[in-house]
Amino acid sequence: MEPTQAEIASAAAALRAGEVVAFPTETVYGLGASARDAAAVRRVFELKRRPMSHPLIVHLADARQLPQWAEPLSAAAQRLAARFWPGPLTLVLPRAAGVSDLVTGGQSTVAVRVPVHPVAQRLLAEFGDGIAAPSANRYGHVSPTRAQHVRDEFGASLRWLLDGGDCDVGLESTIVDCSGAVPRLLRPGSITLAQLRTVVPQIEAGAAQDSPRVPGSDAAHYAPGTALALVADDAIEGTVARSAAAGRRCAVLARRPPRGAVSVAAWIDAGADAVHYGHDLYANLRELDRAGAARILVQAPPDGDAWDAVRDRLRRAADPAAQSELNDALSPGVLT
Ligand code: TXA
Ligand code: MG
Repeated sequence: MEPTQAEIASAAAALRAGEVVAFPTETVYGLGASARDAAAVRRVFELKRRPMSHPLIVHLADARQLPQWAEPLSAAAQRLAARFWPGPLTLVLPRAAGVSDLVTGGQSTVAVRVPVHPVAQRLLAEFGDGIAAPSANRYGHVSPTRAQHVRDEFGASLRWLLDGGDCDVGLESTIVDCSGAVPRLLRPGSITLAQLRTVVPQIEAGAAQDSPRVPGSDAAHYAPGTALALVADDAIEGTVARSAAAGRRCAVLARRPPRGAVSVAAWIDAGADAVHYGHDLYANLRELDRAGAARILVQAPPDGDAWDAVRDRLRRAADPAAQSELNDALSPGVLT
């Protein structure tokens, strides 16, 4: 299943030649280009149809390459890197001189990550330099956690794809901004705020007024084609029934089986474990998207640190119109 060394070497040569290479990481698949090659980086934006102002993460084989990309690490950044690299953590750092504005979105910071996935590691080591890579999906879509997802997104327009099987984590990396006086969690991921705080207790949750922009945290992101809405646990069956009576079948992502008979296009019981749920989330959303339903209903995730990343992605995946229609139907008369 794993790519051979010859395939890795060809992919690295393709990167050197300015081509775009999709590759697996432990979080999601990335769409990579040499971070020093402006034309190649531009091609990544074009393929993704992503606005040019959205910065990319620079992936490195080893933290020892950092000085070429970022200013020397603060004490907090050093502790985070020592504890969580290689792994699913991205640090936003003051950028080094010469890092392309295309990579940083014209900001004074650069996002850097050292992934642990063996195929990513082999590619980065063979390439020997930074690979700028966003998630390998069209802008706003659900991120890919399998090679087939990447093929589904880009088809023949993408020549290079390394297949590393299923991504271990399944959700994008935790992003911590270490460019200001106080480190801040900008995007929750599988490394939770509590885990980060065991290393750097003063990390704040969420962006400040003057934090670097994280455009991937815009609303309407990570979204399937079928409009998605979040629904409280005890309202699922009723919502499904009302919708079916109106001739619109729902596809459901829940953490339990249905209570009684339901008329649905699909029902996935993704279980009650946050890690497992997160691992399967994007594959499940893609499957429900193919069910031909009028709506995807998702059982609202529970509170608690372990579900932060899942809650964040599902909130952004929700379709605002579908969500407010559902909220109105569930609480008639409240919004008069
Ligand atoms: O797990 C991941 O992080 C995956 C894998 C491929 O590494 N990559 C990923 O990339 O999710 P992308 O581009 O889909 O999301 C990166 C996020 C975006 O929201 C972007 O705005 C933010 O990181 N970002 C990148 N550079 C930044 C910077 N200098 N300051 C603030 N945010 C930044
Ligand atoms: Mg993305």
